[in-house]
Amino acid sequence: MDTISVGPPRAGVGGDLADPRFWAAGAISTTIVMLIVLAFLTVDSLSVITAGGRNVPAYDVINRHIGYEFNWARHRDVPVIGGLEPLFGQTVTEAEAAALMEKGKLVIQSRACMDCHTFFGNGAYYAPDLTKSWLDPAWENIWMPMTGKATREAAMVEFLMHPDQYPTWNRRMPNLHLTEEEARATVAYLKWVSSVDTNGFPANFRTTKPDHAKQP
Ligand code: HEC
Repeated sequence: MDTISVGPPRAGVGGDLADPRFWAAGAISTTIVMLIVLAFLTVDSLSVITAGGRNVPAYDVINRHIGYEFNWARHRDVPVIGGLEPLFGQTVTEAEAAALMEKGKLVIQSRACMDCHTFFGNGAYYAPDLTKSWLDPAWENIWMPMTGKATREAAMVEFLMHPDQYPTWNRRMPNLHLTEEEARATVAYLKWVSSVDTNGFPANFRTTKPDHAKQP
């Protein structure tokens, strides 16, 4: 015996679901809403990833000291932009810095550095990630004495022009025949990219000053 009363068929629900116009309207409104969300996310991402944006300093950051310190609130290492410390002792304008970045990027693309290295974790895992290479204590501790150069950037230029002559590891970087101008632009690029707030990536990176060793 049927004891469940379902009442009279409700007008609307069953009828709407059967109506193709209901589905068409649903598809169109969902698409419109998602396009608005996508547009918002695109604009928001651009403001985060563009040089001069929230997480990525403008190119003329190469005129400044870039530190890398443990941030207790975020519990990770973050770049700290300090006072004036011009690359190669020469302050550059924003336009000159942008030209250096353009050249550095072309060198990195033309020599396919990412066949061995990674930037932001993208690339090949044969050689170290280069995102924070500028901050690598090995420039001061190993390559400056090894190349006899007085500054980090001079040691980097020398290494990039003759990596086969200054090995520190069982894997060697081959000589990719960079001119001095190309090597200097590459160093400028490496300095800028190290200033990007990567949320602590790469996680196991060690800096000269182990600020994370001491709690404030
Ligand atoms: C064939 C593989 C290969 C290619 C291509 C390559 N590298 Fe390397 N690179 C290495 C290896 C291996 C090391 C580690 C060398 C050592 O420590 O002796 C290295 C080390 C480095 C370092 C030092 C990293 C650090 O902080 O310890 C930098 C900077 C660097 N490479 C930049 C570049 C750039 C820029 C390019 C492209 C112009 C490039 N490499 C292309 C293999 C490569």
